[in-house]
Amino acid sequence: MPMLETATVVGQTRVARDTYRMELAAAGIAAASCPGQFVMVQAGHEGARLRRPLSLHRFDAGRVELLYRVVGSGTRWLAGLAPGEQLELLGPLGRGFPLHPDRPAVLVGGGIGGAPLVALAEARGRAEVPTLVLLGARQAAELVAVDRFRDLGCRVEVATDDGSAGRHGLVTQWLPEAMADFGEEAVIYGCGPQGMLRALMTLDPRFTVYLSLEERMACGVGACLGCAVAAADGGYLRVCRDGPVFAREEVRL
Ligand code: FES
Repeated sequence: MPMLETATVVGQTRVARDTYRMELAAAGIAAASCPGQFVMVQAGHEGARLRRPLSLHRFDAGRVELLYRVVGSGTRWLAGLAPGEQLELLGPLGRGFPLHPDRPAVLVGGGIGGAPLVALAEARGRAEVPTLVLLGARQAAELVAVDRFRDLGCRVEVATDDGSAGRHGLVTQWLPEAMADFGEEAVIYGCGPQGMLRALMTLDPRFTVYLSLEERMACGVGACLGCAVAAADGGYLRVCRDGPVFAREEVRL
């Protein structure tokens, strides 16, 4: 069950261009969370009320970590918070990633979409099965969490739009080649921009594919329908309530 918890900032680190990792003491949410879920960050600032969905980057031992990119006044305010300051978190919200810890996995993250995949890799554990992580970004300075995945024992490959790190181009361009070593038991998890998710939808049907559509959220709590996505059966699904993680067979993008 989601809860409203007053969280205390423990640390704040700039980890890439305009990108910060905030560590918060939030014991209730940390204990209840699953990889792929998110929280609504709620706080007053400059006379306005900030409500922003952020995926859980990591959670453990009474703490949660949020990885976010500064894109406007709200996230700029968040980046200015210092240890000891407090804000309200509502969560954990949504439906997370099925873990399939015994099956090989390929985790595909585009930009800040790599954030929740760290929690997923941690939860799957250092199993004997291989985990390949493919991270894409516009340029090297925007890559996130590469070392974190390596510390977890994952093989990590990167691609950048401008060729400043790893392969030159979109991460999905060489996904078929990267998948060549994987059999039909492989599970693919994707989180990132719409174009990347669409490309994952078209992968060989023998692969199990899960997509996190977190970029589509607005209110985050099922109230606005601003997150509606077309369901494969002709209806619609709410990303915040029914997702943000979906099996590819459930949605149309
Ligand atoms: Fe408002 Fe889902 S974001 S209903």
